[in-house]
Amino acid sequence: MRIALLAAASALALAACGTTPSSSSPPSTTPANVPTISTAKQAVAVLASASGSLVSGSVTLTPMGKGLHLTGELGGLPANGTHAFHIHEKGDCSAADASSAGPHFNPFNATHGKAGSGAHHAGDMNNLTANADGVAKVDVHLEGVTLGGNAVNDVAGRALIVHAAPDDYASQPAGNAGARVACGIIKVTQ
Ligand code: CU
Ligand code: ZN
Repeated sequence: MRIALLAAASALALAACGTTPSSSSPPSTTPANVPTISTAKQAVAVLASASGSLVSGSVTLTPMGKGLHLTGELGGLPANGTHAFHIHEKGDCSAADASSAGPHFNPFNATHGKAGSGAHHAGDMNNLTANADGVAKVDVHLEGVTLGGNAVNDVAGRALIVHAAPDDYASQPAGNAGARVACGIIKVTQ
C-alpha cells in the first residue's frame, strides 16, 4: 500500500513536471551556492607586455566581501584609450600574443557579458581607461570569485589580461576586445 502510494505520488510529480510551462527566465549566471571562501589573503599579478605592446604594470588582489578587490596601475597604454580587462582561464603568459592564457575564466558556463549585470563570465570586468600619460588605475570589485582554496571559482594561478580594444560586453565569446597587450599570472603572496 505504501509503495503504491509512493508510486502514485511520483507519477503525479512527473505529470506536474510535464505540464510545467518551460521557463522563459534566462539561466542564472552564477549558482546560488557559488563559493565565497578565500583561503589566501593576497595575490599579485605582474603584467608584462604581449603582442609587441609597451603595456606593463602590477595588480594586487585581495578578498573582500563575496569577491575580490583589485587595485593597481598599468602603464604604456595609448593616451586616453579604453581597454578590456579580464581574468583568463590559464596562468600561462608564455605565448607572444598571450593566447596561451586561454579563454575568459568561466567556471559556471555563462555567456560573455558585463560584470554585475546579467549573464557574464566570472572573469569579466569593466573596461579600463588610460589617462593622457597612458596610465590606467585599476580599482575593481569583482563578485563571484575566490582566492586560494581550490574552489571552482578560485582565480589563483590564472591570468589577468589587458586588451588593445574595449570590451563591448556583448560579442561572444570575448567582447570583441582585440589583441592581448599585457598578461600576468595571479600569484598568491599571503
Ligand atoms: Cu581578455
Ligand atoms: Zn568574458
